[in-house]
Amino acid sequence: MSLFDLIYAGSNAAWGLAEQTVADAIQQKGKDQKVAFPSTAYSLPVIYSATGMKINTLGDLETALGVAKSLIVEEEDLGKALNAGLSTAVSAEIIESVKYALQEDPYEDEPGIGFVPDPVIRSLGVPLVTGDIPGIAVLLGESESPEELAAIVKDYQSKGLLTFLVGKTIDQAMEQDVKLGLEMRVIPIGYDVTSVIHVVSVAVRAALIFGALKPGDLAGLLEYTKQRVPAFVNTFGPLNEVVVSAGAGAIALGFPVIADIDVPEVPGALLTQKDRSLTVKTSLETREIKIKVKEIDIPVAFAAAFEGERIRKDAVYAEFGSKRSKAWELVVMKTPDEIEDHQITLTGPDIDETDPPVYLPLGIVVEVAGKNMEEDFEPVLERRLHYFINYIEGIMHIGQRNIAWIRISKDAFEKGFRLKHFGEVLYAMMHEEFGTVVDKCAVHIYTDLSKVEELEESLAFPRYRKRDERLASLTDESVDTFYTCLLCQSFAPAHVCVVTPERLGLCGAVSWLDAKATKELDPTGACQPVSKEGLEDETKGIWSEVNKAVDTASQGSVSRVSLYSILEDPMTSCGCFECICGIVPEANGVVIVNREFGATTPVGMTFGELASMTGGGVQTPGFMGHGRHFIASKKFMAAEGGIGRIIWMPKELKDDVRDRLNKTAKELYDIDNFTDMICDETIATDVEDVIQFLSEVGHPALDQDPIM
Ligand code: SF4
Ligand code: NI
Ligand code: NI
Repeated sequence: MSLFDLIYAGSNAAWGLAEQTVADAIQQKGKDQKVAFPSTAYSLPVIYSATGMKINTLGDLETALGVAKSLIVEEEDLGKALNAGLSTAVSAEIIESVKYALQEDPYEDEPGIGFVPDPVIRSLGVPLVTGDIPGIAVLLGESESPEELAAIVKDYQSKGLLTFLVGKTIDQAMEQDVKLGLEMRVIPIGYDVTSVIHVVSVAVRAALIFGALKPGDLAGLLEYTKQRVPAFVNTFGPLNEVVVSAGAGAIALGFPVIADIDVPEVPGALLTQKDRSLTVKTSLETREIKIKVKEIDIPVAFAAAFEGERIRKDAVYAEFGSKRSKAWELVVMKTPDEIEDHQITLTGPDIDETDPPVYLPLGIVVEVAGKNMEEDFEPVLERRLHYFINYIEGIMHIGQRNIAWIRISKDAFEKGFRLKHFGEVLYAMMHEEFGTVVDKCAVHIYTDLSKVEELEESLAFPRYRKRDERLASLTDESVDTFYTCLLCQSFAPAHVCVVTPERLGLCGAVSWLDAKATKELDPTGACQPVSKEGLEDETKGIWSEVNKAVDTASQGSVSRVSLYSILEDPMTSCGCFECICGIVPEANGVVIVNREFGATTPVGMTFGELASMTGGGVQTPGFMGHGRHFIASKKFMAAEGGIGRIIWMPKELKDDVRDRLNKTAKELYDIDNFTDMICDETIATDVEDVIQFLSEVGHPALDQDPIM
C-alpha cells in the first residue's frame, strides 16, 4: 500500500470505529446523554478549536462524525492526506469522549491519566516559555527493546522535556523503573491509541488559552501549534494504518513523527531512525529543540526534571531542617577582593561520619561578587537555591531562608554524593544563570551546631530582616521605573505584563525586583524598564509612558492600560495567572479564585471556566488574571474601590493572604479582621447565600457605589 492508501485506510477505520461507538452509546444512554471532558472550559477541545462547534451530548457527536467524514477526501495529495489525519484526530476525540460519557472516570483502573485538565496546562505556561521545559515528546507503541525505550525516556527527562506515553510504552517504562508523574515530567496517557488525542488536546488548548485563537480558525490553529508548541512524536514497533493516519494528524499540527521502522520519509515531517540510541538526537534536531547542557562535577544527575522528586522517609540517608534540626540558607553580596572564586568550604561533619539516618544542622552561605551585582538582587538569587538544589537527582529541597528542609537519599549517598557537591552545584549555577552579575562565587557550608546557630543570629537574620523592610517599603510610589515582561509572548503574542513593586507578574513568578534583575542580566531581554512618566490618572494607574510601552510591546494590539482597574482597560492576561478575579454585579463586588481550587464558585463557574473568559493578551473588562501577592495591595482594583470589593475567595487563598490583607484593610478602611468578612466555600457558594452572609457581617462592598 502507498502512504496515501495507508492514511486513508486508517482514517476510514478510525471513523468507522467512532461511528459504531457513538451508535452503541446512543442506544445505551440516548441522544441527550451529556458528553464532556472533566475540568475544561473548551469541551471537546479538538473539535471546538477546529470547527467552533461545542459538543454537549451524544446526539451532537453525530454532527461531529459528519465533520470527520468530510475531511476524508481520498486523493494523492499531501494536503488531503493531512486533512485525513485531522479526521482521525476528530474520530479519536469522539471515541474518547464517549468513554467519559459512559463512565465517571474511564481511566480509573489504568496508570494512564486520560484527559489533561485545563489547570495543568495553565501551570505549564511559565516553564514552557522560559525554556525550562524545552519540548514535548509523545511516545507511542511498543519498543522491541524496553531498555532502549527507558533510556530514551530518561534522556528526555534529564533534558527537561515533558514526555507523554501512549500504549505499551507505559508498561515498558514502568517495568524499567522510570519514575512517572507530572512532577517527573513523564506522563502516562492511556493504552488505547485513541488516547493520544489527550496530548493533541493539550496543544490545541494552549492555542485557545494562551494564543487567543478563535475557535473555528483551523488554519490559525495549525499555524499556532506548528510555530509555538515544540512537540514531536516517536513511534515504536510496527505501525498499523490507524497509527499512520494519526501520525498524519500530528504532522498536520506541525509535529514531526520519528519511527523506529522503515517508513516512506517526508523530510522534516516523517522520518525513520532505526538506531534507538539516536532517537533523541534525531527528534530534537528535527523539531529544532536546543538543550542547554550543564556540566557539573557531581556523582548524580542534574536536571530540571528532578525538581519535583520526593524522597520518602525510608529512602532518606541524611536530613537537614524540619523538625529535627536547624537549616538556613543565604546569598550575600561581597566585594570581589573578599571572595576566592570557586572556594567551597565545609565547617563541621560531613554525612559519612556517622551511621544513617544522619540528622545535622545546616547553614549554607553563598557569597557572590560582581561589578553589576546589587544588594537588591540577593533575594532573587537566593530564591533560585531552592531550584538548583532540587534539580539534583536524589535530593529534595523544600522551603527557603531559615525554613529550608533538605533530604539526601540513600541512593545519592551511595553514588558518592557529599555535602561539598551542594557547593559545586550552587557555584556552577550562580555563574551559569547569573553570569552577568556574578563574577566570583564562593560557597560555605556549616554543619557545626554552634557555628550554624551563631551565624544565623549574626549574619542570616539581620539580612532577612533588612530585606523584608526593603520589600515593605517598596511601593509603586517609591520608584520611578516599572518593567514590562514579555516572556509569555512566545505563547501569547499580544500579552504584556507591566510589573510594578506592588503588582507582580500575573504568573506570580516575576516580582519588580526580579524584573529589575532580569534587565540587568539580559539587557535586551524579556524585561524592559518603563519610566513612570505622563501621569493621567493616579487612582486608576494610567501613565502615558506605560501606554506607549504596552502599545509597542503588543505590536499595537493594546494601546491603553489602567494598572489599578479591572473594568477600564485592565491589564491583559496570557493564561498562566495564579488567580482570576471576576465581577459579581449582584453582590457589588468580585470573586477571586486561585488555580488550585477545583470546585464551582458563586458566579457559577470553575476557575477554568472563569479563566477561559480572558487570556491570550486580550483585554476583557470585568475579568483579570493576577498573582496572589497583588491581592493585598492598596492598588488592587483601586479604581473600583479597592480590596473592599472582594466578596469571596477559596479558604486556602484567604488564609494565605490573610495577614497582609487585614493590614491593608485596616489602613484603608479602618476595619479589623477584614478577611473574615470575605465569604468562602465553607460558608456559601450560592450567590444568594453569599449576599446573605455579606450583609450579616456588614461587608463594605454592599455600601459602595454600584460596581457597574
Ligand atoms: Fe509571563 Fe507576565 Fe509572568 Fe512575565 S510576568 S512570565 S509575561 S505572566
Ligand atoms: Ni531532586
Ligand atoms: Ni504567561
